[in-house]
Amino acid sequence: MRVLLAGATGAIGIPLLSALAAAGHEVIALVRDPAKERLVTERGAHALVADVLDGDGLLRAVEGQSADVVMHQATALRDAPRRLGPDDPTLALRDRGTAHLLRAAREVGARRFVTQSLITGYGYRDHGTRILTEDDDFGVHVGTVADLVTDSSVATERQVFAAAGIEGVALRYGMFYGRNAFSDMFAGMMRRRIPVLPRGATGTTSFVHVHDAAVAAVAAMERGRAGQAYNVVDDEPMSWRDFMTEVARAHGTPRPVAMPRWLIRAAVPYLGCLMIDTTMRISHAKATRELGWTPAHRGVRDGLRAR
Ligand SMILES: NC(=O)c1ccc[n+]([C@@H]2O[C@H](COP(=O)([O-])OP(=O)(O)OC[C@H]3O[C@@H](n4cnc5c(N)ncnc54)[C@H](OP(=O)(O)O)[C@@H]3O)[C@@H](O)[C@H]2O)c1
Repeated sequence: MRVLLAGATGAIGIPLLSALAAAGHEVIALVRDPAKERLVTERGAHALVADVLDGDGLLRAVEGQSADVVMHQATALRDAPRRLGPDDPTLALRDRGTAHLLRAAREVGARRFVTQSLITGYGYRDHGTRILTEDDDFGVHVGTVADLVTDSSVATERQVFAAAGIEGVALRYGMFYGRNAFSDMFAGMMRRRIPVLPRGATGTTSFVHVHDAAVAAVAAMERGRAGQAYNVVDDEPMSWRDFMTEVARAHGTPRPVAMPRWLIRAAVPYLGCLMIDTTMRISHAKATRELGWTPAHRGVRDGLRAR
């Protein structure tokens, strides 16, 4: 297939370029900065310079191109303000960015659209020991700032499922770790002894190695059913405390430094909602059944060894 990929230079985008090429697909990769073209061309893709948040510019950039599928893997967490607001670039990419990419899909004649969603849409709260599946309610509000993230996941899913003439598939990713993902980010902070963990944190979540997420995205592109969402997580949910400890061990950094809960809630409210308030264990049985996908790394300990 010929794939128009947004987010090709990111934590998932880079392994995804390799996974798509290995499966024999041809990729047109959107890059914002011409200086990054080499990152994608050396992985066999064609580069196209465009900003997904500039709808008209994106349409001009894709004019005359053709593709079978559009994949939306663009986020902007590195540019995010500490306090989430409606103008947060990642939220805009999921909402407005999806609308722009759907217009681009029509322009290039694509009939399929795979988008990035998040398991946190099941609600930033303590789900206890229950294993959540795609049959559970999605888009659950809890009355905190994190609801904005939930709404953005719903916004991208709804748009791709409702788009006339397009087969929309959504990937509800667990927390990414691996190169350039959360593990690298927190290892960098622990190396500088920056506190990373709320004191007494009990929050637990499902993670996924970026390479496994990339393989799942290719499988969903090839075999995902139209109008369906798939959880993409590993087999072993882990607490944030254990996650940081494992990352410190794998990267050889000092042990994680804890900070008072009120401080993380005040400094980065979204992280407070994620690490303190949220416990969720997620099943990938549907992705295994329908896409034939299972994570190569069953859990974070195993995946960090591969990095
Ligand atoms: N499920 C998860 O846990 C999850 C999901 C997403 C992100 N994250 C984590 O958050 C951290 C940083 O994420 P990140 O968001 O900065 O991801 P990232 O790894 O930097 O990738 C973001 C991608 O989106 C592209 N992009 C951003 N804004 C764009 C725009 N307006 N138009 C076109 N493309 C655009 C970026 O392109 P440029 O190269 O031009 O910037 C890049 O290719 C990583 O640790 C990642 O693992 C986690």
